[in-house]
Amino acid sequence: MITLGIETSCDETGVSLTSGRTVLSNVVTSSVHLHKKYGGVVPEIASRYHVEYIAEVFSRAVKLSGKGLKDVDLVAVTNGPGLVGALLIGISFAKSLSYSLGVPIIGVNHILAHLYSSFLTEKDVSFPFVGLVVSGGHTALFYCKDVGDQKVLGQTQDDAIGEAYDKVSKLLGLGYPGGPIIEKRASQSSQKNKISFPKSYLGKDSLDFSFSGVKTAVLYYMQKVKKPDSRLINDVCYAFQDASLNVLVEKTLMACRKVKASKVVVGGGVAANSMLRRKLLEAGEASGVKAYFPEFRYCMDNAAMVGSLGEELYNRGCRSDLYLTASPNLEV
Ligand code: KG4
Ligand code: ZN
Repeated sequence: MITLGIETSCDETGVSLTSGRTVLSNVVTSSVHLHKKYGGVVPEIASRYHVEYIAEVFSRAVKLSGKGLKDVDLVAVTNGPGLVGALLIGISFAKSLSYSLGVPIIGVNHILAHLYSSFLTEKDVSFPFVGLVVSGGHTALFYCKDVGDQKVLGQTQDDAIGEAYDKVSKLLGLGYPGGPIIEKRASQSSQKNKISFPKSYLGKDSLDFSFSGVKTAVLYYMQKVKKPDSRLINDVCYAFQDASLNVLVEKTLMACRKVKASKVVVGGGVAANSMLRRKLLEAGEASGVKAYFPEFRYCMDNAAMVGSLGEELYNRGCRSDLYLTASPNLEV
C-alpha cells in the first residue's frame, strides 16, 4: 500500500510517499527564514508560503519516490492541531487529490504523528511505551498501549518546551528558532556551573510541566547584568537547558515507573537536541528504560510521519471523508 502524506500545520510544507514504515520520498520546505525577523511564526506568511510551494513540493515528492500517482492508495493529511489557515491549504490539496485519484483520505493528528516518527527508523520499537512529545507547540507525556490507543499522563500548563527555547533565545537576542542556537551556545559554555535557574516540578507526583518560570528567571537574571558578553550568554544558555531538560528527563522516567514501562519514545522538534538525547539515554539506562528518538530529519515537521501513521490508522479501520476540515485545537 502506498500513502501520500501532506503536512502544512505550521511553517513547513511537506509531502511524502510512504509504504508502511518505509519512506519512499519525503520533501520538506520551510518558511522559517521569512519569520526570523518577527521572532516567531507569522500565520499569514506561513499560509501564503504553503500556497506558493505545495504543488512544487508535491511534484518533487512523487518524482523522487519513483512511483506514479496511479500507485497511490491513500492520502493522509494533518488536520490539527496547528494554524487554521496553514492546515486548510494541506487539507484542500489532499481533498482534491483524494477526489481526483479516487482514493480515500484520512486526517492525522500532528502530535501523534510526531510521537510515531521514531517508527520510521527504529524498526524494533514495540508497545506499550511512554511517549514524550516535545515540540514548539506541545509538551506532553503519554502512555501508549497501541497505535491510536494512548492516554495523556501529563502536559505543560503554560509554555511548550520549544516555545520556551524560542522565547529565551529572543530575549537573549539570539534569533529564531531558538532551539538549535541555544543548544550550540550552551555547548560553548566554559563555566557550566556558574548559573543555576529554578526547576519547576508542580508538586512531587505531578507529571505536568511548566516552563514559563525558567524563562522568567532568565529574563530577571539578564535584567541585572549590566554588560552581557558572549561568554555569559553561553553560560545562561547552558543553565536554561540544564534546568528545563532535567525536569523533562526526571518526569519522563517518573512516568515510566508509574505505568511500569521499560521504553520511552520521543518525538517533536526538541527531540533533535543532543543534550536531551544524552541525558535521557543515560538516565534511562541507569533505570532500565530504553529511549528511542527519531532521526534528525524526522524530528522537525515532515509529511512522512503523517503518511505512515495515517496508513496504520487506516488499516485499523479509521476513516475520514471529504468533509474533513481543519481542527486548530485538535486534542489527542
Ligand atoms: O516539532 P516542530 O518542528 O514544530 C511544532 O510542531 O511545534 O518543533 C519546532 C520547535 C521550535 O520551538 C524549535 O526551537 C525547537 O523545536 N527545536 C529545538 C532544537 N531544534 C528545534 N529545541 C531544542 N534543541 C534543538 N536542537
Ligand atoms: Zn510539529
